[in-house]
Amino acid sequence: MPSASRILARCDRLAAHSEQADGLTRVFLSPQQREVDALVLQWMREAGMVACLDAIGNCVGRYEGLEPGAPCLMLGSHLDTVRDAGRYDGMLGVVAAIECVDALHRRGRRFPFAIEVVGFGDEEGVRFGVTLIGSRAIAGSFDRNWLDQRDSSDTSLHDALRAFGLDPGAFGTVARRPEQVLAYAELHIEQGPVLESLGLPVGVVTAINGGNRFEVDLDGMAGHAGTVPMHLRRDALVAAAECVVAIEQVARSMPPVVATVGRIEAQPGAMNVIPGRVRFSLDIRAPGDELRLQAVAAARDAIDRIAQRRNVKASWRALWEAPTAPCATAMQEQIGAAIAAEGFDVHRLPSGAGHDGMAIVAIAPIGMLFVRCKGGISHSPAESVAPEDVDAGARALLRFIELFQPPVREAPR
Ligand code: HGY
Ligand code: MN
Ligand code: MN
Repeated sequence: MPSASRILARCDRLAAHSEQADGLTRVFLSPQQREVDALVLQWMREAGMVACLDAIGNCVGRYEGLEPGAPCLMLGSHLDTVRDAGRYDGMLGVVAAIECVDALHRRGRRFPFAIEVVGFGDEEGVRFGVTLIGSRAIAGSFDRNWLDQRDSSDTSLHDALRAFGLDPGAFGTVARRPEQVLAYAELHIEQGPVLESLGLPVGVVTAINGGNRFEVDLDGMAGHAGTVPMHLRRDALVAAAECVVAIEQVARSMPPVVATVGRIEAQPGAMNVIPGRVRFSLDIRAPGDELRLQAVAAARDAIDRIAQRRNVKASWRALWEAPTAPCATAMQEQIGAAIAAEGFDVHRLPSGAGHDGMAIVAIAPIGMLFVRCKGGISHSPAESVAPEDVDAGARALLRFIELFQPPVREAPR
C-alpha cells in the first residue's frame, strides 16, 4: 500500500528548499527548484520510472505498460509554490502519485497503458505572472510570447530557461499529442472548507473554475506631499484604493464570483511624494465562463469610471485567461468508484482554485481527487493535512489506477 507517512515526510523534505529563510517560497527555474527536481527525479527512478527534466522544466517520470510506448495515464501536480506557501499545495499530488507507482512497481504490476507522473515546474505563475507554464507546454498551448515575460529582477523567461540549462527554443518538444495521453488525474488538497464541513477525507472534483488575471496601471500625477492641496491632486494610490473597494463590491454583487487584488505597487514610493503611478494585480474567477466575463466587464467599467472622475489614466494588461475546465464524467465516475471501493462516501464538488488540469483538458479527459485540508486553509504556512486523509487519498488514487479504463473522448472543447 502507499505510505502516507513517507508521503508526508517527502513533502517536509521538499519544503526545506525555499528562497525564504522563515517560510516556503519556491519559484519557477530557481536554485531551489533545481534542488527539488533532483530529489523528485530520484524518487521517480526509485519507484521504477524512467525520469528526466523536460525542455520547459517539468519533472517527468514514465512507468512503462505491458507494451513499451503505450499511451499513458498521466498523474501529477506542481512543484512550485506561492510566496509564504503551505507545503502540500502541488507537492502532495506529485509525491502521492510517485508513491502509488512505487507500490505498483514493488508488486510488479503493469497495465495495458503506461503511467506518467509529472511534477509541473510552474503552475502558480508567481515569478513571471503567467501561469500553468509547464502544463501549457505539455498541452501544446505554450505562448511563445511568454518567453519575453520578465520577473521582478527584469530577467526574461527566455534567459531564465537558458540559465537553468534548458533550451528556450525547445519548448515545442514537450507537447503531447492527444493520442499519447489517455487521461490526466491529479490528487490535490481541496484548499477549501467543504470536505471538512461534511466530515469527508476525500472528494471528486466536477470542474475547475475558470479565471482571468490582469495587471492594471493607474497614472495620475506625482507631487510634493507638503505643497499640493488635496483638491488639486491626481493621487494614483487613492484612486487605486477606491478601485479595490469597487472590485470587491462587484464580486459581492455577483456571487459566487470571486475577485482578488493580491499585489499593489505605488511609485515612486517615497513618504513625502504623492503617488503618481500605481500597478495592481486583479484575479477574477467564477464557476461559469459567462458569469466570469460579466464580472470582468463590470470591474473594468467600475475602474474606468473612477479613473475618469479622478482624472487618472487607467490601462489594463491581460496576463492570463482560462475557461472553466470540466472534469470528464467518466473520470468523475472512476474516481468516485475508487473512493467508494476504499470505503468512503463519495462527494462531488467544484474547484475554486486553479490547477494544471485547466491546460491538460485540451488534450485529454481530466479528473481530480481532493483531500481534506485543515480549515480549508491554503496558500499559507498554516496549510495542513491529516495523515489519515493522506492515506485515504493515496489509497483512492492507487485504486483508481488499478481500476482505470481509458475514457471515451467527449466532444472536443
Ligand atoms: O491560483 C490558483 O488558484 C492556483 O493555486 N494556482
Ligand atoms: Mn496554489
Ligand atoms: Mn495547486
